[in-house]
Amino acid sequence: MTTAPLRAAVVGCGIIGRHHARVLVGHPDFVVTAAVDAVLPAAVGLADEVAASGAPRPLVTDSLEAALEGAEIDVVVVCSPSGLHVSLAETALAAGRHVVIEKPLDVSVKSARRISELASAAAPQGLMVSVISQHRFDPANRVVAEAAHAGRFGRISSGLASVAWWRSQGYYDSGDWRGTWALDGGGAVMNQGVHNVDLLVWMLGRPVEISAQTGLLAHERIEVEDVAVATVRFESGALAVIHATTAAYPGLSTRLQVHGDTGSGVVTDDRLEYFHVASPDAETGPQAALDTANQATDLLPDDQLVGGPAEQDHFLRGHARQYDDISRAIRAGTPPGVTVDDALLSLATVKAIYVSATLGRPVLVDDVLTGALDDQDVTVGVRP
Ligand SMILES: NC(=O)c1ccc[n+]([C@@H]2O[C@H](COP(=O)([O-])OP(=O)(O)OC[C@H]3O[C@@H](n4cnc5c(N)ncnc54)[C@H](O)[C@@H]3O)[C@@H](O)[C@H]2O)c1
Repeated sequence: MTTAPLRAAVVGCGIIGRHHARVLVGHPDFVVTAAVDAVLPAAVGLADEVAASGAPRPLVTDSLEAALEGAEIDVVVVCSPSGLHVSLAETALAAGRHVVIEKPLDVSVKSARRISELASAAAPQGLMVSVISQHRFDPANRVVAEAAHAGRFGRISSGLASVAWWRSQGYYDSGDWRGTWALDGGGAVMNQGVHNVDLLVWMLGRPVEISAQTGLLAHERIEVEDVAVATVRFESGALAVIHATTAAYPGLSTRLQVHGDTGSGVVTDDRLEYFHVASPDAETGPQAALDTANQATDLLPDDQLVGGPAEQDHFLRGHARQYDDISRAIRAGTPPGVTVDDALLSLATVKAIYVSATLGRPVLVDDVLTGALDDQDVTVGVRP
């Protein structure tokens, strides 16, 4: 097993591509050897930044194919507009490279199913494909997920995933692809809310049925929603609410709640707000004074708790923690913490919200996942 740094090509050198480059440059297991962007000055900018950090200057190209020809590359990091994720990942896999794909997996469930098959076929050759969902590695989300998976919350009864953010009109106007069905794949849920949808599905299990409504209320010149609400029924019987908006001025919090019949966990803005698991001998009679003590401080350091000091470099730390996992998976030849199939289920859940809102009726996630309602034309707030 080699311990040499893994050589990474960053494809798409915009906001998140440059963020990946910063994380990779600071990570002992990676070096950046190629900067790829269809708009060459963006790739030059990323390469300049890498070189300014003291690392070797990456090759600059305007296509992944040229990078694969001209640079030493072990892993291709796809940071393009969402609708191009799978096609770029396919090129990388076909060339025998490991692949990291930014969230969401793609905008099309059909394309996502294809990369799922290709990733499964490539795994026996030692090729790894992982999808970024950096909040799965936040200590607060891990604590709640581990409690949910271990049954410490008892029977999970309900959950909530909310993102109440603000994005200005300038944000949507800043890139032709933003706010389009073809390349952004949706609005507040697909681009911003997908993180929390992924966490909810990770913690509560398989979603079965979704009923949703969407609206475009505070922006113009975009095709997609800036507010969405949905209810979800899970295979376990648990029920949940999803709320995602980019129309909540001035931009408030993200919130995730998981409740069961012996405990609850609440994460706000990636930090643990509340955690309680009943002790096995807790009094449960009708007159019992329930212990509601917040156990969060017993579990995590102050900078992972609501009200504590901010974690230093929190945004960089999130991706860095996922790159620890990606490095481990590549070197050990074992599956990464976030697989293509994990991301496919989250993508189908997001799509089911759009299909339900478009059709004006509940839809089965499996019908979206397996193709019966696959890539149904979707609209915002319009009933047939
Ligand atoms: N994990 C997170 O927290 C997070 C945060 C922001 C964005 N993202 C995801 O990252 C992706 C990019 O978002 P962004 O905000 O950086 O967008 P952006 O517009 O800032 O950057 C995208 C870049 O991709 C380039 N590009 C377009 N087509 C290309 C091609 N065929 N080959 C190479 N480059 C190409 C564009 O020229 C642009 O420079 C999206 O899928 C988004 O959902 C994830």
